[in-house]
Amino acid sequence: MTAFVPASALDRETVLVIGLGLMGASVAAGLKAVGFGGRVLASDRREADVQTGLSMGIIDGSGPLDELIPQATLVVIAVPVLAIESVLEAMAPLWRDDLVVTDVGSTKQAVRQSVARVFGYIPPNMILGHPIAGSERSGVTAAQAGLFERHKVIVTPEADSCRSALARVHALWQRLGADVLEMGVERHDDVLARTSHLPHLLAFSLVDTLARQDERLDIFRYAAGGFRDFTRIAGSDPVMWRDVFRANKTAVLGALDEFEQGVSRLRQAIEADDDDAMLGAFSRASHARHYFETLLNQASYQSMEQRNITYRASAGGHVQGRIRVPGDKSMSHRSIMLGALADGVTEVDGFLEGEDSLATLQAFREMGVVIEGPHDGRVVIHGVGMHGLQAPAGALYVGNSGTAMRLFAGLLAGQAFDTELTGDASLTRRPMGRVVDPLRLMGAHIEASEGDRPPLRIKGGQVLQRLDYDLPMASAQVKSCILLAGMYAEGETRVREPAPTRDHTERMLNGFGYPVERSGNEARLAGGGRMTGGPIDVPADISSAAFFLVAASITPGADLVLEHVGVNPTRTGVIAILQAMGADLRLENEREVGGEPVADIHVRYAPLKGVDIDPNQVPLAIDEFPVLFIAAANAEGKTRLRGAEELRVKESDRIQAMADGMAVLGIEHTVLEDGIDIVGGQYGGGTVDSLGDHRIAMAFSVAALCASEAITIHDCANVATSFPDFLSLSASIGMRVQAEEA
Ligand code: S3P
Repeated sequence: MTAFVPASALDRETVLVIGLGLMGASVAAGLKAVGFGGRVLASDRREADVQTGLSMGIIDGSGPLDELIPQATLVVIAVPVLAIESVLEAMAPLWRDDLVVTDVGSTKQAVRQSVARVFGYIPPNMILGHPIAGSERSGVTAAQAGLFERHKVIVTPEADSCRSALARVHALWQRLGADVLEMGVERHDDVLARTSHLPHLLAFSLVDTLARQDERLDIFRYAAGGFRDFTRIAGSDPVMWRDVFRANKTAVLGALDEFEQGVSRLRQAIEADDDDAMLGAFSRASHARHYFETLLNQASYQSMEQRNITYRASAGGHVQGRIRVPGDKSMSHRSIMLGALADGVTEVDGFLEGEDSLATLQAFREMGVVIEGPHDGRVVIHGVGMHGLQAPAGALYVGNSGTAMRLFAGLLAGQAFDTELTGDASLTRRPMGRVVDPLRLMGAHIEASEGDRPPLRIKGGQVLQRLDYDLPMASAQVKSCILLAGMYAEGETRVREPAPTRDHTERMLNGFGYPVERSGNEARLAGGGRMTGGPIDVPADISSAAFFLVAASITPGADLVLEHVGVNPTRTGVIAILQAMGADLRLENEREVGGEPVADIHVRYAPLKGVDIDPNQVPLAIDEFPVLFIAAANAEGKTRLRGAEELRVKESDRIQAMADGMAVLGIEHTVLEDGIDIVGGQYGGGTVDSLGDHRIAMAFSVAALCASEAITIHDCANVATSFPDFLSLSASIGMRVQAEEA
């Protein structure tokens, strides 16, 4: 732990800046700009620069080092890396233990060697540092008071560095608005060689190469944005950069070797007209660039950084119009998984660009699959075949998605390489024993955390055996997991389910030419087959449509058409249950698209009545219960649900999460272990918690249509996992839900 220094303590320092170039002068100017209460002194071998600093008002005094050092308490050495040693030699006779000395050199091992040469050891009050900030301009007049604001400063303390000296260096940079982080000198040099030194080298080289070819520099007249963007940094200080490359020679040469290999791979790809190799490199790069941008902008990236979003749903509203909700989540996951393992190209339309399915897409990119898009729901997957995946560089992060983790477990169990699957806090609490147990029976080696929870560590290179399995629960995820593993197993794998569950895996496998036989409650496939990619049209997700089916059913005057909704009979429990309650729902324009039934659903307001939900419908409506509870709260009489214990292990315990929210709104209900009784009637508003569960958040948004007061819903960021444009679509039909970010 770094010792804490109160901000005001910095005002007692006398800061001496040695070297009034861009960096040193910006430290001085920055201190003045933030109202630093102490004195700022400076020395520079160029007297004219010192005079300029004085006249700019960024320093209070100057003079020779032997006069300045006794007055100083905190010294910032801001001279080029190779000049640091001579500065240290001049300082050595004046060195004091209560002095704190830091530097801004952009390579750190060379500076540490200089320090060691001068002192014979690294004094504990010498804290090396490097602000990751700069400009292609140089000199005192280029000083920018805000140069370090919201920039990173890396400090590289030694194990025996003085903690209070380190804290004072932190305080200096924090006062200038920087984020300070610590790492070892070797790591620093390695990171900087790749992220800063190599790009500078390339920019210098490209401009120099073009300039040499065109003595009159005529070519630059035609330089477009690409050239300008790429080469801006070639305007940087040549002497400084020569020093950087000399000082960080080994790490830079290592980075350059890697780069040369990358360029030569691309060269070969261009030469051989290898479109896939080019697309692979470009789409990986374009994706990585996007990721980098979101990090820079501190935006959310697939839930890696949790955002705190609250919905405010006003009471009342209309439900009117014609809309198409986003693509089916289950099919979107499967389209990527099967497309990646197929031979040839798979073109997906209607892909759900939600965080869950994007996590699956990203995981395949990390395993070397070239995937174009998504762009307006279109994704093109360049399949690598059943054995073409490559080992990812690190753990595969699947965010909030139970489907991704469980299906991946099955298909990764059959790969030649090891993998690790991780997820967010909610997923880490969810049970994985249901997939780990049968996979272990097949011969998979999987380690899970306590209680069979994620992360899962899957050992590659195992020979999988066929499995004959009776699912202990009605779960399409478990069924799919076993079938996917079965493709890599010897012999015929058979899975029997206690009740029908969604059959998208079976349909899509058959569609890709991998035979899955079905009879009664059993699905069978033989290992060792292959798939051929082809077009996939993902219909709108009935689970997302469900929010609006209920919204229209409970709102007087409502009249709504939901277009192109997937109405696979293993998914239409919500329609059957709502119809049993008296809802006015009609399927129009029924058709089959790519092996899946699709229809437009026309729904109008109709008074609902409470029902005993048919237990056979439970797996067919498993994701729709949160919003069906809201339908029940608006029905006359009591609705009873039983046999739905699976709801307790979804993204949240959906029985309890809904019951807690309904209690706030005053909706009468009784919670049971495997279900709930809900009595319909008038209810109020209040503040409820979605517990980070997308479907709880959207269900209470729908509840507001008939509440007497507004409903505030906390923790709604995860709506983006399944329904990224929920708020705009809701608003387009007359609902009144707004998001606020804390
Ligand atoms: C899904 C299956 C269901 C469902 C989930 C998606 C799938 O989970 O709740 O949202 O795509 O296979 P279970 O298999 O756990 O019931």
